[in-house]
Amino acid sequence: MCGIVGYIGPRDATAIILNGLKRLEYRGYDSAGLAVIHDGKIDVRRDAGKLSRLVELIESEPISGSPGIGHTRWATHGEPSARNAHPHLGSTGEVVVVHNGIVENYLELKDELSAEGVVFNSDTDTETIVHLVEHYQSTGLDLSDSARKTFTQIQGAHGIVLLSSKEPDKMVCARIGNAGGVVIGLGDGENFIASDIPAILEHTRKVIFLDSRQMAVVTRDNVHIETLEGRPVDPQVHIVSWDPVAAEKGEYRHFMQKEIHEQVRSLTDTLAGRVDFEKGQIRLPELNLTPEFAQRLDRIFITACGTAAHAGMVGKILIEKIARIPCEVQLGSEFRYSDPITNKNSLVLSISQSGETADTLAAMEEGRKKGATLWSVVNAIGSQAMRIADGFISMQAGPEVGVASTKAFTAPLVDLYMLAVLLADMRGVIDNTVRKTLVADLRLVPDLASRALNTEPGVEIVAGRLKDIRDCLYLGRGINMPIAFEGALKLKEISYVHAEGYPAGEMKHGPIALIDKMMPVVCIAPKDPWHDKMISQIQQAKARGGTVIAIATEGDELVGSLADLTLWVPECPWMLSPIVTVIPLQLLAYHIAAMRGLDVDQPRNLAKSVTVE
Ligand code: G6P
Repeated sequence: MCGIVGYIGPRDATAIILNGLKRLEYRGYDSAGLAVIHDGKIDVRRDAGKLSRLVELIESEPISGSPGIGHTRWATHGEPSARNAHPHLGSTGEVVVVHNGIVENYLELKDELSAEGVVFNSDTDTETIVHLVEHYQSTGLDLSDSARKTFTQIQGAHGIVLLSSKEPDKMVCARIGNAGGVVIGLGDGENFIASDIPAILEHTRKVIFLDSRQMAVVTRDNVHIETLEGRPVDPQVHIVSWDPVAAEKGEYRHFMQKEIHEQVRSLTDTLAGRVDFEKGQIRLPELNLTPEFAQRLDRIFITACGTAAHAGMVGKILIEKIARIPCEVQLGSEFRYSDPITNKNSLVLSISQSGETADTLAAMEEGRKKGATLWSVVNAIGSQAMRIADGFISMQAGPEVGVASTKAFTAPLVDLYMLAVLLADMRGVIDNTVRKTLVADLRLVPDLASRALNTEPGVEIVAGRLKDIRDCLYLGRGINMPIAFEGALKLKEISYVHAEGYPAGEMKHGPIALIDKMMPVVCIAPKDPWHDKMISQIQQAKARGGTVIAIATEGDELVGSLADLTLWVPECPWMLSPIVTVIPLQLLAYHIAAMRGLDVDQPRNLAKSVTVE
């Protein structure tokens, strides 16, 4: 959940870390801090609030040095305040830590340490880590051995970086479980550590990902990795192809707006190399899918959280319709506790932008335990969900910074469509003509996204009308029902407007009681197989005095005449319609939030990557 950056090398760590933290602020933003070693001593600056507060603090009380570590926090234990902000110093002032995760046994450890006379200076669980390291140092162990002993003693999932002024030539880091990644960036005479790649991308593209229960000792010229049990690890160096400019806001006011507009490109990239339009075939080599597995696959569980789960709901409809394999969607937070009925013919397919969402990873672990094959559709390259899977589809959305996910929603819609076609082909459940038509339709995707973005001027007019609303209902059916959920989620997340997504056919069983002239009703009614049913639902809402905002297919005069306001999207094959219907809803949430003057990219109480369960 929190963002971490570390640097060791000849340069001053301060600016490098602050720049890196800026790129990670989306991970958590209730407090921030930085520590450097200077003249054999550790200097710390930290404060509550956003990173800009830390920058101001460092301007008024400058620090410099190397190595250094920094952190942006999303509070779990202890309120967001300066004393609870990371980095945390130990009692001697000779060890300092930044941490992502929850020390599950911290109360027990705190009692033990307090009994030895240790005084705690924060309400965090993290502080136990630094006191434990100091405890082991006091027995004569060096930093890495003290760290190892500490890492094996703390329970839970963690990403951790430690510095000690006793050994100022190194940083020690570890990844334990699924609290988010630890990536080591390799420079020339300098090295970096981060929780996420964007933090270090401007310095290096050569990276090593730590696996769970691995720790590293990083010096200016060397990276030594071993397991917590002390077994040396020969690391695999990855070359990251992301463009650092892609992580900047450019001409846009907010990352979210930029990312909505990037969907033409991200969807083009999603198709690139995967679709053979001439043969009408799909290639997804990283899935390691064999015809034998495709044949015996008898059940798919899609597991995901938030926006990714809504993409999964669309995916279920596509997989069942095209490949005829029973498929169910379970939220990551529920799957593990649902005692799922899986076996070696089942597939657990997780969807995740970050690839680090703890609930989704826990669901994957459950699938693994129960003997299912694990696949993932993931955006963050090298993330845990990608690495622990038997096969994966890489989303090709590029870095997504806005907390509200947009381009990482539409990319998996296309990935799951391609997957459905590939499975159907291998199982022989579609003939050549159907397959070729389904594949040929994919050609339309970038242009459809581009035309859906043309709704923006109309969306701004609707947003102007709705900007002061307190509630909003989103209705959809069939393949566009999950789009009602997603539209409502976008609005809640960034505008703080109470919004509900509902299957339109269920409205008469309850929510219709909510409708009066104060209640805007967004009806997703493109020309899809559920179109006629949506017309009845629009009429029912109108009859109760609701203000209907319709998402309709260009030229659909009937919907246009019934709705108060209409956003026109291009005509398209119904299985691709969620791409065009969701884009105006992303824009609508964005413009309402921007008009309300809210912090669109970093909405209150949320974090982009939720690495706690
Ligand atoms: C958080 C974010 C959501 C996101 C969800 C799942 O709650 O705020 O926008 O949809 O996590 O994230 P993932 O990285 O697994 O897609």
